[in-house]
Amino acid sequence: MILSLAPMEGLTGHTFRAIHAECFGALDRYYTPFIAPPRVGSSFGGRVRAELDPEVNRGLVVVPQLLTKDADEFVWAAGLLADMGFTEVNLNLGCPSGTVVSKGKGAGFLRDLERLDAFLDEICARSPLPVSVKTRIGVSDDAEYEHILEVYRRHELAELIVHPRVQKDRYQGTPRQEAYGATLRAVSCPVAYNGDVFGVDDMDALLAAYPETRHVMLGRGILANPALARMLKGGPAATATELERFHDRLYGAYEAEMGGNAVFRMKEWWSYARFAFADPQSVHRAVRKVRKADEYRAATERVFRTERLAATARFQAA
Ligand SMILES: Cc1cc2nc3c(=O)[nH]c(=O)nc-3n(C[C@H](O)[C@H](O)[C@H](O)COP(=O)(O)O)c2cc1C
Repeated sequence: MILSLAPMEGLTGHTFRAIHAECFGALDRYYTPFIAPPRVGSSFGGRVRAELDPEVNRGLVVVPQLLTKDADEFVWAAGLLADMGFTEVNLNLGCPSGTVVSKGKGAGFLRDLERLDAFLDEICARSPLPVSVKTRIGVSDDAEYEHILEVYRRHELAELIVHPRVQKDRYQGTPRQEAYGATLRAVSCPVAYNGDVFGVDDMDALLAAYPETRHVMLGRGILANPALARMLKGGPAATATELERFHDRLYGAYEAEMGGNAVFRMKEWWSYARFAFADPQSVHRAVRKVRKADEYRAATERVFRTERLAATARFQAA
């Protein structure tokens, strides 16, 4: 079974990937949060170059994800990525954000299947790297997926990763695993499942329903329980010492990278990581108002000193 880390903007960048791998063992594969390709003829900007730097990604299998509706820009960016040594490029057809969707990108591309078909034709023919796709099953209605799948069937994709929600769901409601099942039947390329695998029980249920599953992508589940992939492979839950060390390493690396903004980056992580504790509300209250580095250190030291770990760390949707 391939276990990969989902692309999550602001959360699973190169720093998180490296420190998570160091503390809990590497996943089989990592997807970068979405990257907008540079204009044809230009190179990636500084922040993206840091994200893709072979040195910071050393030892990990990393697949860069592009967000665009422009085939020339996609192919150009894929060329740059090939030159940097990457072996696959992923296309984002799932981002539900209003600004992205209104420009016809991400899940917004699923609105215009003729255009998507032509785009996939071009990039699959011209990209120097194999192209995988991460998709939602529609914009507003599950019934759209039948037509979307028809488009995917016509192209030679390296892999199709299905997050079976529609754009309008954002991250709410239950993923429709039957749409993943329909994908397994419909396409000949490898298929991956993504969505709400937060514990060993979720994986067991997925495998009972779809025993042919070969790749599961994990997102919020790993943020709430950094040992989740290890547990899915039969290993132990995270200890308090492991969690504190992971936190300290992560905060230290963000501080070195972005100074005072590290506090805000870590607060985003805590909005998920609080579920590793028996009383997530109390953890939330402890870190929610801190702004400065010294307040942050005091608050988090208190959390690790006084809060008990949850019996089973598990992400819970609001
Ligand atoms: C804060 C946040 C940022 C995300 N950023 C991206 C992204 O850059 N690219 C992408 O394809 N999906 C993105 N996603 C979606 C996740 O990759 C994943 O599909 C989603 O969280 C469902 O998986 P999960 O239930 O395992 O978390 C993001 C999700 C969240 C919550």
